[in-house]
Amino acid sequence: MHLTRRSTTALVATTALLGMASAGCAAGTGDPAPSPDSHQDVAVYTWWSTGSENEGLNTLVEVFEKQHPEIDFVDDGVTGGGGGAAKDHLQSRLENQDPPDTFVAHAGAELQDYIDEGYIQDVSGLYEEHGLTDVFPEGLIDLLATEDGKIYSVPSNIHRANVMWVNPAVLQENDIDPSGRYESIDAFVADLEKLRNAGMEAPLALGTTWTQVHLFETVLLGSLGAEAYSGLWDGTTDWNGPEVTAALEDYKTILGYTNADRMDLDWDRAIQRVIDGDSAFNVMGDWAVSGFDNANQEFGTDYVAVPSPGSAGTFDFLADSFTLSAGILDEDSAKAWLETIGSKEAQIRFNKVKGAIPARADIDEDEFTEYQKMAIKSFQEDTIVSSMAHGAAIPVAHLTAITDAATRFNREVQEGGGDVPAFQAALASAAAA
Ligand code: BGC
Repeated sequence: MHLTRRSTTALVATTALLGMASAGCAAGTGDPAPSPDSHQDVAVYTWWSTGSENEGLNTLVEVFEKQHPEIDFVDDGVTGGGGGAAKDHLQSRLENQDPPDTFVAHAGAELQDYIDEGYIQDVSGLYEEHGLTDVFPEGLIDLLATEDGKIYSVPSNIHRANVMWVNPAVLQENDIDPSGRYESIDAFVADLEKLRNAGMEAPLALGTTWTQVHLFETVLLGSLGAEAYSGLWDGTTDWNGPEVTAALEDYKTILGYTNADRMDLDWDRAIQRVIDGDSAFNVMGDWAVSGFDNANQEFGTDYVAVPSPGSAGTFDFLADSFTLSAGILDEDSAKAWLETIGSKEAQIRFNKVKGAIPARADIDEDEFTEYQKMAIKSFQEDTIVSSMAHGAAIPVAHLTAITDAATRFNREVQEGGGDVPAFQAALASAAAA
């Protein structure tokens, strides 16, 4: 993957200027100057540089090249799970008027700042043109649309965040129900303690900062329940309230059962601990399924995937979604990319490797794995809440403030402390900002 971009916009702009300077003639030939659009390419920005993420991107490119052979794909992205570093880098490019033609972001509140700044364009016209309004579930369209009914991205997939990945053999060896299902956080903590007493240092595998925020989100959900969890984002749940204090205490307790080297691990290495049996559990979005597949693990036997503790009946939603940048010269190529993203072929092939479910509802479930069939059912039947850690629930600035507070708290817990009142106050002031 390219770490620096070949600036499509700059390149085309230069060609255009040269064309003007030579008064409409290609230098020295007398032939008409090439139109700025004669070479089409599309600069696509993602952070999908490893494992299933990179495989998924390659699949999208293959479908794109088949559907639009006249346009070259330019990989314009960066590296880093969860996209945290990507977001910062992207932000500086957008501020410097150097946008990629299209970038992946999370559908929902994360797009709001980009919309307010005028960095991305309304693409609802493309939904009409390619019939997406008819094939995306109505509930999804509602999650994608802003208050004025505009839509600013085309989702490639829907991921579920509240999934716990479990090594059933480890549980069985310790006389614990191998299903890994926990109706409550307390029941989960009781088994963490049992595993710890049996000599397992870190029964719950955890990774770096953003994965800690991911775990935090699922503890809030499992402790508060779907309604009060959603209330954190629309202001109906008080961040200073006693239920939140209890959820933060739960988080602190759970952190006590995680691995000390967590800051050094991205999500895939935390999953590896479960595969290796060093930990019994990891909570991660369902892109994690690829880690098990790549290690030839059998779903249902070598590993199971269940709702994170206390969150059965809820689908914690996020969607990777591609935008149309403002201020680019070749909008048609970017729109062609978005057309591919919404197409049936891309949605099937991409999600087969990415572990997510398609955004389109007109796809035969039999195309997908057992895990994905479960996720499709849950998305259709369960209560849907929006992911905080992955941009669906809150804008970037709010998530950054939560991440800072959670990172501080994690460090304190690791050092044997963990000031819950200070953490709660920081979260409340992040919400009020
Ligand atoms: C994205 C996923 C990605 C994961 C890990 C999430 O925010 O939505 O597509 O696989 O981060 O990088």
